[in-house]
Amino acid sequence: MAPDQSLFYQPLRTEDGSPTLVHPVFGEAYSSRHGAWMQANELYLKLTQTHLHPSPRVLEIGFGLGMNFRATLENCLQRGVYLEYMSYEAFPVSREILALVEVPLCPQARLIWAEVLANWPLHPQAPLTMEGAWGRLEVRFEDVTAANFPAQWATALYFDPFSPKVNPEPWQLGVLQKLSRAAQQGAQLATYSVSGCFRRDLLAAGFTVQKVPGVGKKAWTVAEHLGSTISLL
Ligand SMILES: C[S@@+](CC[C@H](N)C(=O)[O-])C[C@H]1O[C@@H](n2cnc3c(N)ncnc32)[C@H](O)[C@@H]1O
Repeated sequence: MAPDQSLFYQPLRTEDGSPTLVHPVFGEAYSSRHGAWMQANELYLKLTQTHLHPSPRVLEIGFGLGMNFRATLENCLQRGVYLEYMSYEAFPVSREILALVEVPLCPQARLIWAEVLANWPLHPQAPLTMEGAWGRLEVRFEDVTAANFPAQWATALYFDPFSPKVNPEPWQLGVLQKLSRAAQQGAQLATYSVSGCFRRDLLAAGFTVQKVPGVGKKAWTVAEHLGSTISLL
């Protein structure tokens, strides 16, 4: 019998009262300790301008516990906007773990999240896809270092792996170059890291880069895709 994953994931109540988990191998929390729900809304949803976009297409690195997806879904439902959300996840948690991490949602978002849980595969291989009047979700269970992203697709890039220190692979220039090709002109990338090396690689991959004040943390990074094909690619 497979070991119960919940024995190894440590629950953590973040400063805004919303829950997250600490990963047993990476040793880091899935979301900010200063507020999991706050980070999903203030950093990923708002700093990418997704909360204002009339037809958002989000490309996420690291579906994790689906916190960013739920915040974005709820906002789009409230605005009556069709959401397209594509997320990549190399080390998915089980359905039981995902179900442990609850946040209060509006009734429609709660139903859609229940459907995500019901459809979450026991042995994730083929992508999880769901579609409705609200939009479309695709979770691809792939390592982003090997994945092919759709070309000129995303209006927003939620760059949310664990930190470069413990999870360096997704932060490489090669991944950023692929994200650059996946982004529409003007697409906004957001991440919690302000690593100098990462910010230089973002510039090299065709983004303008800004350090902005964070909540609970000194700074976050926001980058805008310039839209041209960079000679480095
Ligand atoms: C900080 S958590 C993401 C939290 C998530 N965005 C949320 O809203 O709950 C980082 C995630 O990135 C995933 N990850 C790490 N390396 C990856 C890789 N090379 N390719 C795809 N996903 C990766 C981890 O398994 C983990 O689920």
